Amino acid sequence: MNVVVLLGAPGAGKGTQAPLLAARLGIPVVATGDLFRSAVRDGTPLGMEARRFMDAGQLVPDEITVRLLLERLARPDAAAGVILDGFPRTGVQAAALDRALADRDARVSAAVLVDVPSEELIRRMSGRWICRAAGHPYHETSSPPRAAGVCDLDGSELYQRPDDRPDTIRVRMDQQLGALAEVIDHYRSSGALRTVDGLQGITQVAAAIDVALTDAGVAVAAGGPAGVR
Ligand code: AP5
Ligand code: MG
Repeated sequence: MNVVVLLGAPGAGKGTQAPLLAARLGIPVVATGDLFRSAVRDGTPLGMEARRFMDAGQLVPDEITVRLLLERLARPDAAAGVILDGFPRTGVQAAALDRALADRDARVSAAVLVDVPSEELIRRMSGRWICRAAGHPYHETSSPPRAAGVCDLDGSELYQRPDDRPDTIRVRMDQQLGALAEVIDHYRSSGALRTVDGLQGITQVAAAIDVALTDAGVAVAAGGPAGVR
């Protein structure tokens, strides 16, 4: 069972890389931000609770997030492995994931940190558009869709996330980077941490992730990064 954690600050490119990597590894992406956004859209009690934190740029409490993630991991399509985008985000979440995997005689195969400096994160989030159907991310200058306002991959409408407003972007960075450092330490201690330079183009980052995974013992399909837009 391959469990790959994609780590990175808000806007680092986790959601851009996760589906590309999923195509190469043949396992699904589980993105807690996407699960929360879909709960918000469906107006469920979980969505209403999560929305208060998301709109304020804060992390959703660990108890809610861990429960959501464990329910998703229990679904049959996750049995052969998953790519985790946006989870774990705190030391408590990282420990909960380790325990859940240990129950299945599994462990995190690799935790890949996509490393990007703060000024570039702000530029990426301020120009981001994502699709309504699946959250596929675009950027108005560095990764525009082929047709304005329409997702290349599923044809759904593109919109800007409410937490990508400049004031909320700043709060997200202030509130979340400390917790990210905790998670990085967790995987450095376990030996699973690999770091890639996220300032490169999307294709180069994908190739660097493949190198990092191979180094960590995760077999990546031959032929290099496929499906890169
Ligand atoms: P979440 O949706 O996970 O947001 P995030 O971590 O803030 O990360 P982003 O989605 O903003 O960035 P990304 O790294 O996916 O970058 P992307 O690929 O889009 O979480 C949202 C909220 O939900 C959180 O704030 C929190 O409230 C809550 N939440 C979620 N998980 C939680 C958890 N585990 N615990 C508690 N709360 C949780 O790329 C960004 C832009 O850059 C795009 O426009 C893209 O086109 C562009 N881009 C990407 N790569 C490149 C490149 N190489 N070169 C140039 N441009 C690029
Ligand atoms: Mg994302």
